[in-house]
Amino acid sequence: MTGPALRHLESHHAIHESAHQEAEAMTALLERAVERKDMGLAVQIAVVLIEHWETRTLCHAASEEQGLYLEISQVEPDKESVVQALTRDHELMRMAVEEIKEFLNNTQSMEEVVRRFHLLLWIENTHSRDEERRLIATLKKKPGTAS
Ligand SMILES: [Fe+2]
Ligand SMILES: [Fe+2]
Repeated sequence: MTGPALRHLESHHAIHESAHQEAEAMTALLERAVERKDMGLAVQIAVVLIEHWETRTLCHAASEEQGLYLEISQVEPDKESVVQALTRDHELMRMAVEEIKEFLNNTQSMEEVVRRFHLLLWIENTHSRDEERRLIATLKKKPGTAS
């Protein structure tokens, strides 16, 4: 069963925003380290940033798929195509994170790693706005709940 925070637009939006702002700030730090050619620091930041994506946004995505999305698909079958599109976004984010890990392990260009983190931010931001607008804002109330 999904907790109330994911079903309410304001609290769900706040979860998206805090993870996004932290990732954005860390990406800016990474970019500056790469510009200064401080590759030791850049790799350290990239490793922490990957962990941030995994423990915040990808964990959030997994809990949505295991709870909220399943509940919505069952109660509001007309939203099935939206749920499928949003699940595909989650998959793209997982793929981007795995690709960044491979880039780091194979010591590929750090400029490319920075570009992938920016791409990830863009996918996540677009996904979050879509999820809030197409799914959460139009959610039907659960039977027997006051809010
Ligand atoms: Fe999501
Ligand atoms: Fe979400």
